[in-house]
Amino acid sequence: DLVYLNGEWLAPENAKVSVFDRGFLFADGIYEVIPVYQGRPFLAEHHLARLHNSLTAIGIVDQGEHFWRALINELIARNKLSDALLYFQVTRGAEAKRSHLPEGQPSPTIFANHSPLSVHWNTPEPAKVVLCDDIRWLRCDIKSISLLGNIMLKQFAQQHNAIEPILQRNGYITEGASSNYFAVKDGVIYTAPANHLILPGITRMWVLRLAQQLGLTVREEPFPSADLAQLDELFLTSSSREVQPIAQIDDIIIADGRCGPITKQLVEAFHQSKR
Ligand code: PDD
Repeated sequence: DLVYLNGEWLAPENAKVSVFDRGFLFADGIYEVIPVYQGRPFLAEHHLARLHNSLTAIGIVDQGEHFWRALINELIARNKLSDALLYFQVTRGAEAKRSHLPEGQPSPTIFANHSPLSVHWNTPEPAKVVLCDDIRWLRCDIKSISLLGNIMLKQFAQQHNAIEPILQRNGYITEGASSNYFAVKDGVIYTAPANHLILPGITRMWVLRLAQQLGLTVREEPFPSADLAQLDELFLTSSSREVQPIAQIDDIIIADGRCGPITKQLVEAFHQSKR
């Protein structure tokens, strides 16, 4: 197992960062997660575009697509990866003393490693979510390493035997704590518009394309949380969960609690598209 840290390839236990790193002191940094299927990064150009947007939003200079492509390939090659999740993190770097405003231009701390990806070939079991108020900030489009809100919400979900909290802001569903949602009602698929209230998921984007190719009707418009009880189908998407059917929101069972036909169609289309 080798991890990347600032130009070096190290055993995980030898990868060390300064306590003055602004990632440690302020969570002043961003990250990206890219799935790998059979040794090949999936939708890498989209992940790198989002990484670029996150870096630009917080004023860190992007190392550039060439740098990231090489790093992705080396991470896969050095670890002989087949199916995996790649993790990339960039913080603003370390400084001599703690001050909110960075003094000068520290050189960014760049870290990358990998974790297992469990690839399911059958339709995953429908699972439970809990509805929560979205307590996060208003720039959820930035893939910030500051995840305290997400962690608190996930702890709440775990305590209620749910796989994920589904979040509402001002009466509308935004997303999950680490996933996007798709709601199906009367044959129409709804998902939140990609604005500053959600992370523009790459899996979300891909599922939107697959749905269009299948001739399904999709509306990128806010979905009221009050209408959740009447849903026909609900599923979540993310790089680690792919397409995850949901059977239950709090105590409400969705339709008959089984994976619905549109969800099933998209689970299968997603699997096909990975090859
Ligand atoms: N999470 N929304 C949030 C808040 C997320 O953290 C994620 C991803 C998504 C889905 O994005 P994508 O389809 O690009 O994976 C939506 C990653 C996987 C994580 O935190 O590990």
